Amino acid sequence: MVALACDQGGFELMGCVKRHLETIGYPYKDFGTFTPDSCDYPVIAAPAAIAVAEGVCDNGIFICGTGIGVSIVANKTRGIRAALCTNCFMAEKARMHNDANVLALGGRVIDSDLAISIVDTFLNTPFSDAERHRRRVLMINEMDKE
Ligand code: RB5
Repeated sequence: MVALACDQGGFELMGCVKRHLETIGYPYKDFGTFTPDSCDYPVIAAPAAIAVAEGVCDNGIFICGTGIGVSIVANKTRGIRAALCTNCFMAEKARMHNDANVLALGGRVIDSDLAISIVDTFLNTPFSDAERHRRRVLMINEMDKE
């Protein structure tokens, strides 16, 4: 199950993402926002990030206007490796090389067709088996313990 979180800047694009997830039968847990009114993205993204970190959700898709705010918030959470992606290459490498568990998108940066392609790439790409990538992600995870 994927955790979804957005603010007003990501509200419209998140609607497209939700419809796509429903079409492909991918379950999600929606942390809001639930209206297009202005809200504070840290309030929405932080609980969604914790749900991923604690294993309530397997991964997350967070959207704000640029994707920057939600990615900063997500990466404050121990165990989260959030990747802000603007194309499928980045999403593929974020999964293969970084084992990213949160995808951040900018609702005012990319259009819905590209966003859906990025979402599909993120959800369908496994982490690499290469030792160097596993070693590097372990190094990142060790930082969570400091
Ligand atoms: C909201 O106006 C905007 O600041 C927010 O959506 C996001 O882009 C922040 O990083």
